[in-house]
Amino acid sequence: MANDAEKNPGILLIGAALLVMMGVIGTLVLPYFDEGVTTPTQTAKLRNYPTDSAEARGRHVYIREGCNYCHSQQVRPVRADSKLGPVTLPGDFYYDQPVVTGTIRTGPDLMWVGQRYSADWQHAHLLNPQKIGGDGSIMPKYTYLSKQDRDDLVAYLLSLKPAPQNKD
Ligand code: HEC
Repeated sequence: MANDAEKNPGILLIGAALLVMMGVIGTLVLPYFDEGVTTPTQTAKLRNYPTDSAEARGRHVYIREGCNYCHSQQVRPVRADSKLGPVTLPGDFYYDQPVVTGTIRTGPDLMWVGQRYSADWQHAHLLNPQKIGGDGSIMPKYTYLSKQDRDDLVAYLLSLKPAPQNKD
């Protein structure tokens, strides 16, 4: 009988499979047809670092040191993020491999940190976050990084800014 469908394992299995398929198509397949995702923005082009540039090496240091466990790189279209700069677009991450958007903000968002501080500030802060960022800062001191790694990391941090067209 038709009203026994919920007791029929065959129908339940097909229903479950259809739901999973819808999820897969919605999250993995459809984005390929969305121009906002498949077209790099001007900001993405700024972040398409040549393989052996200081910024590309700095990005490796950033990932290796786990900066992304405490820092996000994504500005959401919500009031809480309104002071952070332009809202990020999917196309901004076009060349990011892997993406370091992050999920947690133990420290501030770094998507546009390059327009907030100078190189000197970044070096001083990495060496002693408590002195520069405030006594309560729980960011570790990165005194053990080689000068080369720190220079590269700072070059990367300074590159994190919106392309002129994307500016507020
Ligand atoms: C344990 C969490 C933690 C880790 C890991 C961490 N940070 Fe931070 N970071 C913070 C906190 C908290 C602050 C805010 C206080 C301060 O400025 O020190 C901060 C602040 C910053 C700022 C200043 C941002 C602003 O807008 O004022 C920068 C830049 C920064 N961190 C870069 C880094 C980099 C690069 C790394 C990796 C080498 C890193 N952080 C690792 C917690 C962390």
